[in-house]
Amino acid sequence: MKKGFILLFTMMLTVGVLAACGTSDKANKKSGDKKVLVMATSADYPPFEYVETGKSDEIIGFDADLAKAITKNLGYEVKVKDMDFSGLVQSLKSGQADFVLAGMTPTEKRKKNVDFSDIYFTAHHLIVSKKDSGIKSIADLKGKTVGVQLGSIQEGKAQEINKEVPIKIENRNRIPDLIQEIKSGRFDAAIIEDTVAKGYLEKEKDFAGFTLSDDPKEAGSAIAFPKNSELTAKFNKELKKMKDNGELQKFVVKWFGGEQ
Ligand code: ARG
Repeated sequence: MKKGFILLFTMMLTVGVLAACGTSDKANKKSGDKKVLVMATSADYPPFEYVETGKSDEIIGFDADLAKAITKNLGYEVKVKDMDFSGLVQSLKSGQADFVLAGMTPTEKRKKNVDFSDIYFTAHHLIVSKKDSGIKSIADLKGKTVGVQLGSIQEGKAQEINKEVPIKIENRNRIPDLIQEIKSGRFDAAIIEDTVAKGYLEKEKDFAGFTLSDDPKEAGSAIAFPKNSELTAKFNKELKKMKDNGELQKFVVKWFGGEQ
């Protein structure tokens, strides 16, 4: 009798778990009354999104704050999923996430697969290398090994540079890996966004960097959504409010320490 009961109970549990699994990879589910939105990001990108080593494993940064503020105003809860940058667009296409906040630039190519909000932050590319490498201009990169994050627009930038001066392009999944490869001498340089590179330049005293003068429109960040998501318009409205009432600027000062 007891055995039968346990078996029945186990079966019920299994059915429950299976049912939960069936919906668990569908983003935008409910927990209690509040709807939960799943945000996907690549938490290797301080001060946009990162985990502070030695502290909690919470993902913090500009994008995390922005996500919290917008979803709160819209009456949602937010759950953050960490993954490699190159998997983010796919996470939206497959319904694993409701939006991506990852310092992502709205490129024409990505726009074929996902929708973007308005731009919330603009940036430039920086070439980072060891001070003693003598790399101070694009011309100095001739014949050098240059690292970029896999799937990032910096990859495209490297290909552009390669048309001007021949370089060897290498990619890695995570930004700290690029830094590590420069340290170990496997890479001569890396292309990283200025706001993110700045943080590493402060830490790595024997590193230097120079900014590529190009159209800043090319490297801004926006929030990505699945195609035709109704969230895009809702998020844009909140973003506009936050731009107008100075809340966005507060986050800029908090995380980037200055003017945009
Ligand atoms: N803005 C660049 C891009 O969209 C790099 C973004 C990288 N973001 C990250 N979380 N690692 O390709």
